[in-house]
Amino acid sequence: MARSLLITRIGELVTNATEGGGPGGFAAISDAALVIVGDQVAWTGPAAKAPAADDFLDAAGRAVLPGFVDSHAHLVFAGERSAEFAARMAGRPYAAGGIRTTVAATRAATDAELRAGLRRLTREMLRQGTTTFECKSGYGLTTDDEARCTALAAELTDEVTYLGAHVVPAEFAADPAGYVDLVCGPMLAACEAHCRWVDVFCERGAFGADEARTVLTAGMARGLLPRIHANQLGPGPGVRLAAELGAASADHCTFLTDADVAALASSGTVATLLPGAEFSTRQPYPDARRLLDARVTVALATDCNPGTSFTTSMPFCIALAVRDMRMTTEEAVWSATAGGARALRRTDVGYLAPGARADLVILDAPSHAHLAYRPGVPLVYAVYQSGAGVYSTG
Ligand code: NIG
Ligand code: FE
Repeated sequence: MARSLLITRIGELVTNATEGGGPGGFAAISDAALVIVGDQVAWTGPAAKAPAADDFLDAAGRAVLPGFVDSHAHLVFAGERSAEFAARMAGRPYAAGGIRTTVAATRAATDAELRAGLRRLTREMLRQGTTTFECKSGYGLTTDDEARCTALAAELTDEVTYLGAHVVPAEFAADPAGYVDLVCGPMLAACEAHCRWVDVFCERGAFGADEARTVLTAGMARGLLPRIHANQLGPGPGVRLAAELGAASADHCTFLTDADVAALASSGTVATLLPGAEFSTRQPYPDARRLLDARVTVALATDCNPGTSFTTSMPFCIALAVRDMRMTTEEAVWSATAGGARALRRTDVGYLAPGARADLVILDAPSHAHLAYRPGVPLVYAVYQSGAGVYSTG
């Protein structure tokens, strides 16, 4: 029988659970306790009613949250683009072609170098409370490089996304149709075993609607589930394509028409907002209130990548969403946990109730609001993943 751990004297326990114990909207219990047995949550409720357990942890009034679910990250790459960032801050606009700089560095890197970079970033994520993450390919853009990038990602997460259609690489500049054929043919065949998802950057300077539909349907025919980079740099067809194909998520959603918002609301496709990208490209933030008021499910994720959002910090994204996207602290924390789980079609994470995976964050603060109230402060005190303590400052 697995040992049980009682965490008690929790100032605020964010559960995101319904009364019946399933995943639900934002919900929290004050003066709470939680019991972990093995890799799952076994009990939550008021501390005064907590059952006995083998082991005991006094949270001393700290807040406990579900581990963050970062549903959008590009972590397999080499090099960095701080000079491009600095030039942008000095006034130069962002263009999708910057991806090619990272593609050149990634192709030149060894597997060991790519693995080391990936592990460094995932350790960074864990220290900031992320216990589930998605990871895309998209900086290899040859069959062999995409295959090794997806294989490396699969060493660390079940949520691997094939993004061969990130941008047309320089050697195919005169033959973009030939590149789409490669992405849908031999490259897909080499990557699909490592992946759960297929993605495409549907944007001016990357791929148009017809190309994006071709790539996503090719992936779906091989059993991958679609998600899409849509409407990031300007208005476009990506969000409506995501809704049409029943994609789990349309990501970015920065420039939306009323028809795009209606398509998201009626399709159930999650709108994943990535405020780190707007921060780092000095673009306007997506209108989260408009989406929430239209009853669209909203997720928050980092978009960690070396070009447009080189942050692994979900707390930073929560702070931006609250301050600059007018999300409430409850909405932002829900979107960074349960919302991310919805965007990945996961029912085992993003909430804390009996049967959920015991992935949780203990903050060195009394409530979830401190994540936005104290921006830039390392508030994560301890992290549990599948019931095991994996990080602690104490
Ligand atoms: O999500 N939008 C496409 N991909 C990344 C940018 C990648 C890059 O510039 O390297 C993004 O923002
Ligand atoms: Fe992205």
